[in-house]
Amino acid sequence: MIYLRCYYKYYYITLLSIFLVLCLNVYLVFFFSKDVSPVRTPAVIKHNATYFATQNIMNSLSKLDKEYDLPVPTFQSNVLRELNVLLSNLKLKINGDIDLFAATIKVMNQNGLMPLHGTPYLGSTINLLKTSKIIKTYNAFKGTQLKLILMFENKQEVLFKPKWYLESDIIEGSVYAGKDRYNGEIIAFYISLILGFPRVPIVVKRILDASELHETANVGLKKTMYINSTTKETCVYGKCYYCKREDPVCTKSERLEGAAIFHLPPNIKLKQHLHPWRRTYIENKRARWEDDNDYCDSVKSNYSSERVLDFIDVSIFDFIIGNGDRHRYEVVEQFNNTILLIDNGKSFGNPYKDHIDILAPLYQCCIIRLKTWERLKSIKGGTFTSILQTMLDIHETLSLLTLPHYHALERRLKIIYATVVMCQRKSDKSVLK
Ligand SMILES: *[C@@H]1O[C@H](CO)[C@@H](O)[C@H](O)[C@H]1NC(C)=O
Ligand SMILES: *[C@@H]1O[C@H](CO)[C@@H](O)[C@H](O)[C@H]1NC(C)=O
Ligand SMILES: *[C@@H]1O[C@H](CO)[C@@H](O)[C@H](O)[C@H]1NC(C)=O
Ligand SMILES: *[C@@H]1O[C@H](CO)[C@@H](O)[C@H](O)[C@H]1NC(C)=O
Repeated sequence: MIYLRCYYKYYYITLLSIFLVLCLNVYLVFFFSKDVSPVRTPAVIKHNATYFATQNIMNSLSKLDKEYDLPVPTFQSNVLRELNVLLSNLKLKINGDIDLFAATIKVMNQNGLMPLHGTPYLGSTINLLKTSKIIKTYNAFKGTQLKLILMFENKQEVLFKPKWYLESDIIEGSVYAGKDRYNGEIIAFYISLILGFPRVPIVVKRILDASELHETANVGLKKTMYINSTTKETCVYGKCYYCKREDPVCTKSERLEGAAIFHLPPNIKLKQHLHPWRRTYIENKRARWEDDNDYCDSVKSNYSSERVLDFIDVSIFDFIIGNGDRHRYEVVEQFNNTILLIDNGKSFGNPYKDHIDILAPLYQCCIIRLKTWERLKSIKGGTFTSILQTMLDIHETLSLLTLPHYHALERRLKIIYATVVMCQRKSDKSVLK
């Protein structure tokens, strides 16, 4: 009997323990489901958006259809036929009977700075920008880097950005590292025409002699010029945010090379706005779009759908030229606030690096203008760089870009195809607008 009693005691204690453990379990399940799960899911999606997008795009690239390697025959493509007209317009056709600069300004409107096929006097205008006699040279104070303004006899002005680097130099560091690349400005002008964004003012390579600089410099600029006693070369450091006497640009064999950019007349008023996909320019501080894949929804609620499509066009252009520095964008008010692509010097820094995050407007919104997509597809399979080289061969030289940069252009074009294909796969709505 004693044995049996003891047995019953243990039985109750065991039952009580099981009950307590069950209660604790139920409590814990409620505790965790309340606090943890709603936080955890969005945290994974929202964090590090640019990193995961890059992984997905590279994955899409590895499966990209071989069709994207094949060129389109010219007779099958309106775009290529139009580009052939542009190529012909880039050649010299008109000799000085008309005011070429006035004619260049007259064609500017809300569709851009010139028609997509150019104008019959485009080639002659480029030639005039390369050869016009300079009567005055002075410092342009706008911006952070040394820029000069050259004034021609007829008072037309061009902005001159000097050459700081060799074409073969590779700029290491952040996407916006280094000084402006004069060749990037020139190539960006031609690429804007190929991509169907005629929104870059005409840019040519221009060479100033040391004597031309000394004869035409105004008093202010002369104060920032000197002759290096060892090399006997003329040096200029100018006045600007980053300008320093110890960091001048100097002639080489008495010649200063640079990009001369057509200066829009003062009656064309540019208005600057902050770009919604700008970087923070602070090391280790990430912008919201870098971590938030839903960033485009927020942009869409603040801008018109046409402007969002503009941002996407601009991101395609910038990704191709390797420009990660578009923190502001310019619009022309009297042309219905049409967007311009000004200041493209932070391009072609490193041909071995593709900054896929420049494409964030494209892969976060996952839409693209049908017109842009058709144009991009018509220059596939090597046509892009082959047209670019044909263009450069007319007024400039192919060696303005090194071979690795030409390869980078073709590679980046394919990354854009892969991004659009990725969007088409994951979205049930139409990607093409
Ligand atoms: C993004 O995630 C990758 C892989 O998890 C990691 O290597 C990288 O450092 C992360 N970047 C940032 C800025 O958090
Ligand atoms: C003159 O040029 C030499 C060679 O480039 C350079 O080492 C020197 O610092 C220059 N002198 C001045 C005063 O800038
Ligand atoms: C949109 O506008 C709101 C209100 O001004 C602002 O809080 C938000 O940051 C804006 N979003 C973007 C992407 O500019
Ligand atoms: C001006 O731009 C707005 C917004 O992009 C567009 O809806 C409108 O049709 C344009 N007006 C003209 C005259 O093109």
